[in-house]
Amino acid sequence: AVLAHEVRNPLSGIRGAAQLLEQNASEDDRPLAEMIRQEADRISTLIGRMEIFTDYGPFERKPVNIHKVLDRVQRLAETGFGANIRFRADFDPSLPPVPGDHDQLVQIFLNLVKNACDACPEVGGEINLRTSYQHGVRFALSGRKDKVALPLKVSIIDNGPGIPEDLTSNLFDPFVTSKPNGTGLGLALVAKLVGDHGGVVECESRP
Ligand SMILES: Nc1ncnc2c1ncn2[C@@H]1O[C@H](COP(=O)(O)OP(=O)(O)OP(=O)(O)O)[C@@H](O)[C@H]1O
Ligand SMILES: [Mg+2]
Repeated sequence: AVLAHEVRNPLSGIRGAAQLLEQNASEDDRPLAEMIRQEADRISTLIGRMEIFTDYGPFERKPVNIHKVLDRVQRLAETGFGANIRFRADFDPSLPPVPGDHDQLVQIFLNLVKNACDACPEVGGEINLRTSYQHGVRFALSGRKDKVALPLKVSIIDNGPGIPEDLTSNLFDPFVTSKPNGTGLGLALVAKLVGDHGGVVECESRP
């Protein structure tokens, strides 16, 4: 967090200077000044996303209705990056509230839905948000002796081509991306937040 802060300060100086130059620049130079400003903004966004990985201690856990979270994410997607995609929700009404941080849960599923949208075909993109309650399912987690029961399952299913095969082994590591403008931080962030919530995230890809 300190590093982020120390980088942001000079960055906002650069940004401000570029903006001034932009206003007074000749026709030829303006795009260059503009590029400096935009790239400074991009670094700033990147730092913001990195910052999440630093720990701020225990976060608040309140009972959260996961279906409300998913509704919210779907609406955010429909009004923005997923406007041309058909969403279908299959929710298991027996799901109990989960102890968690509402905003972080939104962030988790927003990242997954954003990836799903990116993967969908231009025409005929479909995303299925599915929840289910799995009785008696237990997972072995690293760092724990006994298996833990994780009965709540949320799936985000898209009809895109699936995960590129060379990415599957380190999909959840930072900076793993196949997109020209991707940061590769989306799934790393998801993995961290899901872990903080005591859950697991997996990917399943089939042709
Ligand atoms: N639903 C999906 N279908 C196909 N590939 C996926 C899907 N979700 C993730 N991927 C692959 O995993 C990579 C990493 O995803 P991640 O969210 O971490 O970064 P990103 O989406 O590339 O960048 P950013 O999240 O900053 O936009 C993606 O570049 C893509 O190749
Ligand atoms: Mg992503």
